[in-house]
Amino acid sequence: MVSGAHQGRLLALLSKLVRPQRALEIGTFTGYGTLCLAEGLAEGGTIDTIEPNDELYALQREFWGRSDYSERINLLAGKALPFLEGMEVDGRYELVFVDGDKTKTPDYVEHAWRLLSDGGLLIVDNVWWGGAGDPRNSEFPSDEARVLAHLNTQLQSDPRWETVVLPLRDGLTLCRKISA
Ligand SMILES: C[S@@+](CC[C@H](N)C(=O)[O-])C[C@H]1O[C@@H](n2cnc3c(N)ncnc32)[C@H](O)[C@@H]1O
Repeated sequence: MVSGAHQGRLLALLSKLVRPQRALEIGTFTGYGTLCLAEGLAEGGTIDTIEPNDELYALQREFWGRSDYSERINLLAGKALPFLEGMEVDGRYELVFVDGDKTKTPDYVEHAWRLLSDGGLLIVDNVWWGGAGDPRNSEFPSDEARVLAHLNTQLQSDPRWETVVLPLRDGLTLCRKISA
């Protein structure tokens, strides 16, 4: 579940290149990815991270508390879609990392389009789903695989995004929002 060390370094590097004033992570788990992304925040920048599993909150607090970033991390406790639907200010984030409920990934990506500023960076994790999310497959063993395979095809031809899939770990898609 947790982003591994290589992916963590890439998340930190990408965030340092973007220098977001505001970043968003969907799916926090232990809070490791949050800390990696927080490394690149601009001066005074903050990161919102959404997680519904309350059994993780104490662990996250403990890890974040040992870092330099605890005051700049805002945990949104609950499922992502209600939070995303309630975010009325478009273009509020410069970086969005999608890593929550995999069957909802296309919905998260649509919200990310609206919530990112022009030129903003979208990062989507686990797009290969262990190989089962390859669009060339004729059968899909799970809803996650079917949904991610469809998304992989769709993003490649969506003119609103400049998209590259990195063959890192379980497949990591990078999309730059093209100005409307
Ligand atoms: C792969 S883990 C996230 C890993 C983390 N981003 C990292 O880089 O280490 C997926 C997380 O999404 C959470 N999740 C599941 N359903 C969700 C939902 N509806 N909204 C937001 N997060 C959800 C899970 O509880 C889990 O903690």
